[in-house]
Amino acid sequence: MQQRPATSEYGSVDPAPPSTTVQLKELRTILLDEDQKMFQRMRSVFKLRNIRSPESCLILCEAFNSKSALLRHELAYVLGQMQMDEALPTLIRILSDDKEHVMVRHEAAEALGAIGNHQAIPTLKQFLTDKHIEVSESCEVALDLLDWVQNSNVPEST
Ligand SMILES: [Fe+2]
Repeated sequence: MQQRPATSEYGSVDPAPPSTTVQLKELRTILLDEDQKMFQRMRSVFKLRNIRSPESCLILCEAFNSKSALLRHELAYVLGQMQMDEALPTLIRILSDDKEHVMVRHEAAEALGAIGNHQAIPTLKQFLTDKHIEVSESCEVALDLLDWVQNSNVPEST
């Protein structure tokens, strides 16, 4: 029978399965190694996502120094899945960087919507008029998501 990639604990089918190691140092080394195969670097990305600690989140943020725009796009995607405020400053910086690849900026904008922290709103509004439609549309979607969550959530009982 044909085997298919498994669904992650986030409900997504990822381009690579998570690494089996839980050692943050080892995961970081592989992730930041420009000579590693992209598949192995992505395995580190998904393991660091699954660990979902402030430390693993900040290692993923550090990897935006990587040369590969594809990898940086994936980093932004998993930071949105993780929904951790620790990633906010990095994602705001990436969205605001007009030298960054447009698809990385698009994913950073969507991640800022997914995290759900209103601190991202001024930056998302700022790039609503970005010259790249992928960025401006992503900011619009993110702002609508933040608004929708705000207005559809049942108030917490005290
Ligand atoms: Fe994307």
